[in-house]
Amino acid sequence: MVVHDSLIDLVGGTPLVRLRRLTAGLAATVLVKPEYLNPGGSVKDRAATAMVLAAERDGVLAPGGTIVEASSGNTGIGLAQAAAVRGHRIVVVLPDTVAVEKLDILRAYGAEVVTTRASLPREHPEHVNRLARRIAAETPGGWFADQYDNPANPTVHHATTGPEIWAATEGRVTHLVAGIGTGGTISGTGRYLKEVGPVEVVGADPATSVYNGGDGSPFFVEASGHYRHTDTVDDTWPLSYHREVVDRIEVIDDRESVLTTRRLAREEGLLVGASSGLAVAAALRVARGLGPQHTVVAVLPDSGRAYLSKYHSVGWLRRLGFLDDDRSGLLADAGAPVHTVTTRTPLGEAAALAAGPARDQPLVPVVLPGRSPRFATAVSEVLGALDPAVLTDGAARRDPATPVGELADPAPVAIGTGETAQEALACLDAAGGAHALLLRDGRLAGLLTRAALVARAAAAAR
Ligand SMILES: Cc1ncc(COP(=O)(O)O)c(C=O)c1O
Repeated sequence: MVVHDSLIDLVGGTPLVRLRRLTAGLAATVLVKPEYLNPGGSVKDRAATAMVLAAERDGVLAPGGTIVEASSGNTGIGLAQAAAVRGHRIVVVLPDTVAVEKLDILRAYGAEVVTTRASLPREHPEHVNRLARRIAAETPGGWFADQYDNPANPTVHHATTGPEIWAATEGRVTHLVAGIGTGGTISGTGRYLKEVGPVEVVGADPATSVYNGGDGSPFFVEASGHYRHTDTVDDTWPLSYHREVVDRIEVIDDRESVLTTRRLAREEGLLVGASSGLAVAAALRVARGLGPQHTVVAVLPDSGRAYLSKYHSVGWLRRLGFLDDDRSGLLADAGAPVHTVTTRTPLGEAAALAAGPARDQPLVPVVLPGRSPRFATAVSEVLGALDPAVLTDGAARRDPATPVGELADPAPVAIGTGETAQEALACLDAAGGAHALLLRDGRLAGLLTRAALVARAAAAAR
């Protein structure tokens, strides 16, 4: 009989698969490791199972204890699976930007789910990590799994993922490409491969992630990269990320990650999440400079089934401006560049802007202060809007030092460059607004008036 005692005995041992169509024209071999074939559906089964077993062994997680973790979903799912098998309770704390499918999966495993705001400084008591730590401390028998700093996370990749890749390629792997979330995957796997052969380790990182020197503003690739709120004072990096293992980083913008994710499903039959698209986009770039003697291996962390409402939804892609770029000429109607103020801009300065460079704008967006002007503002960091007329009027009557954040109206509705003018108009009317933000790649690309949308919609109907 071939029988396993429990599902967690089946974690690991994923295969390598050759990419065939996305690699057209490339001389090097590009292989992917679909970690969604793990029983819980992601690479995180490895770290989660290893952390639980180590905690039980060390006596910090007693029988019938409560596992608590801060997670973008997959570690929580891996832990929930282990908790069910080992007889523990589990509480998972997640940012509110996580795909809804992941919350449902966690609940289905019997996990208690706590969501908290994604855009918070690390020092905030409700920050996902702090909140999880507090819940663990306040729960009798509580144990904080702490994937960011738990050495069992990189160690399990050194013990399993690395040797699997080496064995499956019979030592022919020359490049490892992986995203960096906690850093556990790339650090452990990369360290092993460097011990056994000359392997170059390449990190794949979203453009605005702090790991590659980005400004830390939000990006759309779930569970990869490092976000930094501008009010964060002490931005500690995870101990699971061993920077010395990573030889270089390929920076991939959200559009390339998301569109590569879509291509993987349609052209290779690999239904994966966007951190897989990120890793493959980077692997293709790496492979472009290599000859036939090279073998590039990219880790695909999870399945696309958890993101049917996001990366695999045409509506979502169009609404954020990732797909069908400028389908109705909306970009041409939107004034760009958009002049913005921050919540802390003094009224006097904002009024001068409204009377000067932003004179022709229908509104002045109010954004989170402290971001690099190199990157267009992420939609979640457009915090409000101001009427230029109100600004110039108000400046005469109020203290010009007043921060405009106090005077702002809510941010108007956002529409994407992939939407038709009719769709955009319906969306604006449903929200009852007169103006809209126009998004490209989930970032502020322009401003639209209702009048411009009406004209576009009428032209399209003709
Ligand atoms: C979908 C997905 N991609 C990438 C990662 C990053 O892996 P690691 O934390 O090992 O760096 C994670 C980790 O949670 C993940 O869930």
